[in-house]
Amino acid sequence: MRTTTKQNLAVELVPGVQIPLIGLGTWPLLGEDAAAAVSRAIANGYRHIDTAENYANESDVGEGIRRSGIDRGQLFLTTKFNTRWHSRTGVREAFVKATRRLGTEYLDLFLIHWPNPAQGKFVEACEALQQLMDEGCIRAWGVSNFKPAHLRHVQAAGLRIPLNQVQVDPERGQPDQLSYHAGQGILTSAYSPLGRNGSFLNHPAITVPALELGKTPAQIVLRWHVQHGRVAIPKSADHRRQRANLDVFSFALTQPQLEAIDALETGAPPRLDSDTYFH
Ligand SMILES: NC(=O)c1ccc[n+]([C@@H]2O[C@H](COP(=O)([O-])OP(=O)(O)OC[C@H]3O[C@@H](n4cnc5c(N)ncnc54)[C@H](OP(=O)(O)O)[C@@H]3O)[C@@H](O)[C@H]2O)c1
Repeated sequence: MRTTTKQNLAVELVPGVQIPLIGLGTWPLLGEDAAAAVSRAIANGYRHIDTAENYANESDVGEGIRRSGIDRGQLFLTTKFNTRWHSRTGVREAFVKATRRLGTEYLDLFLIHWPNPAQGKFVEACEALQQLMDEGCIRAWGVSNFKPAHLRHVQAAGLRIPLNQVQVDPERGQPDQLSYHAGQGILTSAYSPLGRNGSFLNHPAITVPALELGKTPAQIVLRWHVQHGRVAIPKSADHRRQRANLDVFSFALTQPQLEAIDALETGAPPRLDSDTYFH
C-alpha cells in the first residue's frame, strides 16, 4: 500500500506502519555536525532518519530531532545494534540503551547491524526483536547485511523478516540478493545508495536523463532506487544536496532509462563480506 505525499512517498513495512522511501543517512556525522545535519534535514522535509549504535552519534541524532521541534509521531527513526547484544536479554538491553541515547520512548525500526554467523546467535536476536515488536516497544524490526543464507535461517525459525538494509547502487546491484528479497516479500533498504558519490554519477546512463529531466545525477540514481520499490538512505550534511536528494517524487524514469542504469551492474559484491566482517 502506498501513501502519496509529494515529498516523501512511503511504503508499508508491516501492517499499519509506513516507511518513507527516502531517509537521511547519518554515518559518519558526529557531535554538533550530526545534530545540525539532522535538524536541517527535518526542516528540509525528511521524515526518516537512519542511525546506529556503531556510528556513536545516537545522542547527537536525538539532539537534532529535539532541536527541530518535530512531533515524534511524525518521524520514522531507525537504529541498529552491534553483535554483542545477540541474545534474548541482550536485545532488550540494546533497546533500552539506544532509546535512552536517542531520547525517545520507542523506535520505528530496530535492526541487527551484522549477522556475525560465527557467533551463531542472530536467529535468537530476531526472535527477541519480534518479541519487542509484539510488546509495542518497536514498530517494526529488520536486519542488515544478511545474505540469503542468513535470511533462510531466520525464516526457518518461523519469522517473517520485514526489511533488510544492504549496500546497493547502480554498479553494485546485488541481483541475487534483491531477487531473494522480492521472492520472500522482504523490503530492501539501500545503504550507500549513491556509492559515496561514486564515479557512476558521471556515466551517460545517468547524466543523459539528468540533462533531459533537468535533475542532478544523484536525483536520477535515487529515483532509480525508489522506482524499483527500494528505500534509500543517502547521507548529506549539505542543505542543497539534502533538499535535492529528497526531491525525487515529481518525475519518473522511463523503462529504457531504468534498464540503462540497471545495465551498469558490475557483479561487484558489497564492500564488506558479512560472513566475516561484523561489529
Ligand atoms: N547498514 C550498514 O551496514 C550501513 C553501512 C554503510 C552506511 N549505512 C547507512 O547508509 C547511509 C548512506 O550511506 P553512505 O554514507 O555510505 O553513502 P552515500 O549516501 O551513498 O554517499 C554519501 C556521500 O555522498 C555525498 N552526497 C550526498 N548527496 C549527494 C549529491 N546529491 N550529489 C553528490 N554527492 C552527494 C555526501 O557528501 P555531503 O554530505 O557533503 O553531501 C557523502 O560524501 C549512511 O550514512 C548510513 O546511515 C549503513
